Amino acid sequence: MPHLPSDTPLRDWLRALPKAELHLHIEGTLEPELMFALAERNGVPLPYADVDAVRQAYQFTDLQSFLDLYYAGASVLITEQDFYDLTMAYLHHAQADGLAHVELMFDPQTHTHRGIAIETVFAGLARALREARGTMGISGYLLLSFLRHLSEEDAFATLNAALPLRSQYDDLWVGIGLDSSERGNPPEKFARVYARCAELGFHLVAHAGEEGPADYVRSALEILKVARIDHGVRSSDDPDLLQELIQRRIPLTVCPLSNLKLGVVRDLSEHNLARLLRAGAMVTINADDPAYFGGYVLDNYVASAQALDLSHDELVTLAANSLQASFLPAADKTRLLDQLAAAASRG
Ligand code: HPA
Ligand code: ZN
Repeated sequence: MPHLPSDTPLRDWLRALPKAELHLHIEGTLEPELMFALAERNGVPLPYADVDAVRQAYQFTDLQSFLDLYYAGASVLITEQDFYDLTMAYLHHAQADGLAHVELMFDPQTHTHRGIAIETVFAGLARALREARGTMGISGYLLLSFLRHLSEEDAFATLNAALPLRSQYDDLWVGIGLDSSERGNPPEKFARVYARCAELGFHLVAHAGEEGPADYVRSALEILKVARIDHGVRSSDDPDLLQELIQRRIPLTVCPLSNLKLGVVRDLSEHNLARLLRAGAMVTINADDPAYFGGYVLDNYVASAQALDLSHDELVTLAANSLQASFLPAADKTRLLDQLAAAASRG
């Protein structure tokens, strides 16, 4: 396997590859500096003395220990401008990392349960995404994600509150996701609301097999009928399931640094990303919640390449998978894949 010489040339070469990020929670891009600025702007008290104290607090033992801080952090997001600023800050990282396309998950319930109107959330995210399309050449979609620790009834209420906005945001809002506390909240809890979202013509994804068992991946596929699995790393516990994922080319949106920070893996060198990829699974690399997990998408590519000895060809395959697995129209995928082929052969 050819070794890529050192960090900077590797990073530069990876940056130049057109890529898509498919597993990114916009609330998880809230950097401590912006958290403090918004807290001050909105008069929201924070339980931290300063930015360093926030970073100190980011010592997670599992998914729930992270989610507790993630939901608390989101309390500073109040106005349309806040959601715009949050999204624009992420899009600057996206541009710096060479992303051509992003599919952002957002959690309306995190905000509506605090009394923020869903219209405010949509308006801020959409203004930033539309601006980025024009000024940065980055396309963006939105995946409205239900919180799985809440009831299916609450998910329906969220869907029904969002649907009147659909025509206004039909260039952006293309899909539905499922996130938050996985164990004890299996995909089938959301069978009816996913069936309704399928009837409505949304693309469907769901988190499964991050902390939860391979069975949850199976029920996300069979009951929710998702097109992609977010995380899905536990799929390798079930060889039959893994074969099905490979044969059906079901994309897995893997988030290596997230898995490391949340204790899904002990060390990046033990991550099964390379084994899944080499077995023929459609693996993609993503950041999940970069402000909390210590790295944006390019950091995830570089760290994975180094820890797992990924070859030049494997890294190009990961970038190509991210474009193929996106919900972009076929013509856009072809254009970006052609650009990727050209960029891959340079340097
Ligand atoms: N898993 C589940 N829910 C989440 C995550 C995650 O990694 N990030 C934000 N919500
Ligand atoms: Zn996630």
